[in-house]
Formats: sequence, C-alpha cells, structure tokens
Amino acid sequence: MSGVLDNMIEPGDKILVGITGHWGKVVADIAKRFGANVTRMEKPPGSRFTLHELEAALQEHKPTILFLLNGESSTGVYQPLQGIGDLCYKYNCYTIIDLVATVGQQPIKMDENKIDAVYFNTHKGCGGIPGLAPVSYSPRAMQKIKRRRIPARIYQTDITKQADAWYITMPVEQRNAAWHHSFSMPLLYALREVLAKIVEEGLENVWDRHADTHRYLHDRAKKLGLEHYVPNPEDRLIGTSVFKAPPGKDGYKIASFVFKKFDIEISPGLFVDMGKVIRIGLFGRNANRDAVSRVMDALGVALNSTETNV
Ligand SMILES: Cc1ncc(COP(=O)(O)O)c(C=O)c1O
Repeated sequence: MSGVLDNMIEPGDKILVGITGHWGKVVADIAKRFGANVTRMEKPPGSRFTLHELEAALQEHKPTILFLLNGESSTGVYQPLQGIGDLCYKYNCYTIIDLVATVGQQPIKMDENKIDAVYFNTHKGCGGIPGLAPVSYSPRAMQKIKRRRIPARIYQTDITKQADAWYITMPVEQRNAAWHHSFSMPLLYALREVLAKIVEEGLENVWDRHADTHRYLHDRAKKLGLEHYVPNPEDRLIGTSVFKAPPGKDGYKIASFVFKKFDIEISPGLFVDMGKVIRIGLFGRNANRDAVSRVMDALGVALNSTETNV
C-alpha cells in the first residue's frame, strides 16, 4: 500500500481518494504523509461510486491520481473497474486501485481496464500466507515515476530500484550499482505453491468456485433471515460478506460465541459499525460449500442462543 502510494505520489500531487469504508481512509492518511494534496470523496457505508459520480468528481477536482478500492473489505462493497481507466485517460489522471480483497476471487483485467498501479496481498483470494504484497505498474505509471523530480521516499519499495535489481532496466554487468533486498525465500516458495495450485485448478475455475461459494453463502444467509449490509446485490464483494446483526443481537457476542463453541472466526465488523454487523470471509481454500455450511450452521446456533442477545 505505502510503496505504491509513495512511488505514484510526488509531494503536491492532487489525489482524489474514493472512500467506501475503512481502507480508503487509511489510504487518505498515507497519501497525506507522502505530501499529497488529498481530496476525500466518501460514500455512505454499503454503497459504491457510479461512473457518473466519478466523472463529476474528476471534472470538479482535476486530480493527478484517482484512488479506489476494487473491494472494500470493511463494508463488503465491490467497485467494478470497467470504465474507470477510460475516464481517467479522458481527464489526464492516473489510477491506483487496491486489489487486496479481489485478486484470486474474481477477474481484474488491469491492462484491459487501463489501470495504472495496483497492490494486493497473497493470503486472501490467492490462499497463501501473509507477508508478501505484489504490485504492478502500467507503462504509463512507470513513465510518471521516471519523470519524478525527487525520488520516492521509501528506498526499499522504490520501483525504479527494484526494476534495476531485477535486470529490467539495467544490464546484468551494472548490477552492483543496483538496489539490494534480502527476500524471504520461504514466502516465495509458499507463493509458488499456491500459484501452482491455482494453475492446476484453472484460474477461471477458481473464480467460479468463489462465485459459487458467494451465492451459496447468500442462500444460506437468506434462510437465517439475515439482512445484507450492502443493499444492492451487484455492489456485494465476493469473498467478504457483511450482514446486519439481527435486531436484539450483538455482533461481538455472536462472533465470540461462534469462536468459542465452534472454533470458527467470523468478525463483528472491521472499524465500521462494529458490533452491529457480522462479517464473514470465505476465500482461497475456504471458498467452498462445506466451509459455508460449517460457518452458517454455527451462526444459526449462535443466533438461536440467548447468549448472543444485546
Ligand atoms: C481492502 C484491503 N486493503 C488493504 C488491506 C491491508 O492489507 P494487509 O493486511 O496485507 O496489510 C486489507 C487487509 O485486510 C484490506 O482488506
């Protein structure tokens, strides 16, 4: 997160940050620390931006960079990427997209959608372990970065240095002038294994499995009478689903009940409407119907227990 923002932001750059929950606020904070002129554009929790709203905001604020989350995991909101790159090209603006809650769970198509810079991690949809944060920059983003008047502030995530080190921009014989970082080999091997598993299953099958899990989870939630936090079905994120805690029930008590009695971790919210929601993450190897059944059986017991009353 910080690395991509640092590479893309030069002090004084105007960044328009789309906020659909907690993580957009974090990005606004980080961007400010890197000297950006930050404009926050906020939606009520549970909703996303329309292309029309984005275009109006680009016209009004004329930012250098537009930041959006493809998936806001705190509220369970999905922001489709189609059309955003075209808009940003039209208004001469770069895009940074947080893909943490979507990679491995559904198609991204960074090039097709003309996105300039992205980051994600490897322990959500990819099904790996925490510790790595892959990034990708478009050629257009790399041109902006190469034109910087002052270098990025964080040496270790400076993409020009990393590119040198990986021989992308510098011949091997000049490598002693390049950047150095001792990588975690166990993490790389772990990533290799999860990627091999994705290849074995087939990427499209992996996406289908996540979509099927999502549908099944929502069927089961309906049977429990749960109301979605995100009202519009098309705005619901695959992989992280957020429901309102039923009237008279406490999200903290429900999460704690399910954890203690069934050894399953669900969450009473993430920074937004804590205790008033039930947040369920099923991605990576947990994206399957058996996992849904285990969680929803446990949740059903929790909702029927007086121990989870407010
Ligand atoms: C949408 C989103 N962005 C960023 C982050 C931060 O990622 P990490 O925990 O790998 O630092 C998270 C973590 O949950 C997230 O859900």
